[in-house]
Amino acid sequence: MSEAVHKLDVSLPDSSAPADSKIDHAASIRYWSSLPSTSSNMLGMLGQYPWYSRIELQGSKNFLSKVRRLLPAVPAGGQFHQGVDCGAGVGRVTEGFLRHVCTVVDAVEPVAKFTQVLQESQLKKDGVVGDIYTVGLEDWYPGKQYDLIWTQWCVGHLTDAQLIQYVSRCRDALTETGIMVVKENLSTAPNGLDMYDEEDSSVTRTDAKFKLVFEQAGMNVIKSEIQTGFPKNFKLLPVKSYALRPKV
Ligand SMILES: C[S@@+](CC[C@H](N)C(=O)[O-])C[C@H]1O[C@@H](n2cnc3c(N)ncnc32)[C@H](O)[C@@H]1O
Repeated sequence: MSEAVHKLDVSLPDSSAPADSKIDHAASIRYWSSLPSTSSNMLGMLGQYPWYSRIELQGSKNFLSKVRRLLPAVPAGGQFHQGVDCGAGVGRVTEGFLRHVCTVVDAVEPVAKFTQVLQESQLKKDGVVGDIYTVGLEDWYPGKQYDLIWTQWCVGHLTDAQLIQYVSRCRDALTETGIMVVKENLSTAPNGLDMYDEEDSSVTRTDAKFKLVFEQAGMNVIKSEIQTGFPKNFKLLPVKSYALRPKV
């Protein structure tokens, strides 16, 4: 199966054209819309293993704590006020992690049946989920400032140019002490290139490509970390978190 965690390390790259030139947004939306709206489906074939999501969410929590210790202006144990879950799906990350570190979490997600789940959720009724934008990240123009912009397992649906523009818009939408985190799979293609996956029409980028994108978007990587704790026998793609702050 496709894009997220779920990816087993077996993809063969087609080097004839840049991987991102094959991205077809309509095909991605068709793919995701064809799946039932459950948290486990956000994780593809690994969704059948509840431990997988637990380990992954705990890894995010630990990573964010380490990032906060690097930024003295951010109170170590305190809440972020305004967060946003980008490429939120049905809110797995908000439910399992972001709601514990942010007072309010907005959501950006292009698949209407997923945002409908969020709209009708208890978290929305409780005011933990704030504004919900049913739109792809390539068309999202943040209308407010965020303390935490969390973007996970979805930027493979954006072309390189769209990703640079998106990260740059996020840079401008961070509060003075705000942090952006991008958490994604990494390409392990032997030729060192990004890999295209036709199942969900997405790309898996190399670490070098992510660094180039962040540089071009005017962001510094203040911390990065490979997710640990997954069983080795699953042969998953590496999952890396990057914490970004605007270049000064
Ligand atoms: C692997 S799921 C991850 C969902 C969530 N971030 C999580 O970790 O549980 C990928 C998500 O990306 C969404 N997606 C597809 N195209 C997108 C786009 N252009 N912009 C933002 N998200 C997109 C899909 O609808 C799906 O909800």
